[in-house]
Amino acid sequence: MAILKVARLGHPVLRQVAPPIKPESIQEAETQRLIDDMIETMREYDGVGIAAPQVHVSKQIAVIEAKGSRRYPDAPDIHLTVLINLEVTPLGPELGDDWEGCLSLNDFRGLTPRYQQVRAKALDREGRPVEFVATGFHARVLQHERDHLLGKVFIDRMPSFETLSYLAEFTRYWSR
Ligand code: NI
Repeated sequence: MAILKVARLGHPVLRQVAPPIKPESIQEAETQRLIDDMIETMREYDGVGIAAPQVHVSKQIAVIEAKGSRRYPDAPDIHLTVLINLEVTPLGPELGDDWEGCLSLNDFRGLTPRYQQVRAKALDREGRPVEFVATGFHARVLQHERDHLLGKVFIDRMPSFETLSYLAEFTRYWSR
């Protein structure tokens, strides 16, 4: 496994719409290696999710996991989930605000509205369909990663940049 270089805001790959993966190519060694490397990279940089465009690969793959994250100490645990061709559908109109960050905008946090409850549909790393409902932080992470597959980043979802903060200032003035 390898730790991959993370694309930072400004790299065009983050703004491309990633094409879906052909189900028959999921089992290929190259895809499986990419998934392993994405997991390793997410853990190395203490992220709670990473999408393939963030490691310079424009494909619809995301991995998420939260377990005692230093970057998100208040986060509930999310078990490791590999999401290929991820679709996220809101279940209800309620939006909630919370602070969001991103390994591609590593130094920033910003208050970002997200749907409170969503349904996720994807394929796992064996190509089997997975479908589940997520709420709160888990739903937020799914919407964030789905956005990466659409060429979007969290600041695109912020209605105002008044809360956009460097991490040190966020920790000093905004975090509880
Ligand atoms: Ni991100």
